[in-house]
Amino acid sequence: MRAARYFPATNTEMKIAIFTLVFLLIAGAAIAAAQFNLSAYNEPSRFEARVATMGKHWIVSRSAREHPVSEPASGPSSLDSGGMTFNGDCAFCHGQDGRTPTDVGQAMYPRVPSLASPEVQQWSDAELFWIIRNGNRYTGMGAFGKTLTDDQIWDLVHYVRSLRDAAPAGK
Ligand code: HEC
Repeated sequence: MRAARYFPATNTEMKIAIFTLVFLLIAGAAIAAAQFNLSAYNEPSRFEARVATMGKHWIVSRSAREHPVSEPASGPSSLDSGGMTFNGDCAFCHGQDGRTPTDVGQAMYPRVPSLASPEVQQWSDAELFWIIRNGNRYTGMGAFGKTLTDDQIWDLVHYVRSLRDAAPAGK
């Protein structure tokens, strides 16, 4: 009986409190699930895009720091072979020019970005290497480390970087 003094709530009250808490949690989850839309049709909300981008930047920059890779010297041949690999493996979604996503790329969620855009160009070389090698889970951007050598991926990094300075499509 002495223990009861330290626990002012009776057993029944505790059960009701726990039951209510569990009920509220389940009801909250059900409401959130009912509002969640699985469709890829609409553009992501600003909130969703912001949270996903923040998470992505944190993970990619940390991963690229933790697994540093040495970058081979780049030359014109690196750009040429990067362009060839790009046509074969990337243009399917990113478009021939890397800036005009194909119909497939525009249908994906998140949408395929222009590789010349500031959002993409702000990554460091090491981060671009990490992204192309490991992909972005849940986005459709695959992990090319399985099929391409490190040298081929560096060529792609240089190629993607060259899009920043190239004239926009049609100009
Ligand atoms: C099946 C479609 C598909 C293919 C093929 C593809 N990508 Fe992507 N890529 C995506 C999508 C979708 C995104 C957007 C991911 C995101 O928003 O996080 C993306 C994003 C990127 C980004 C920007 C990443 C970021 O978070 O800013 C780079 C760089 C990139 N791709 C390079 C490549 C290269 C290089 C290749 C070829 C080796 C390639 N991609 C092939 C779908 C594809």
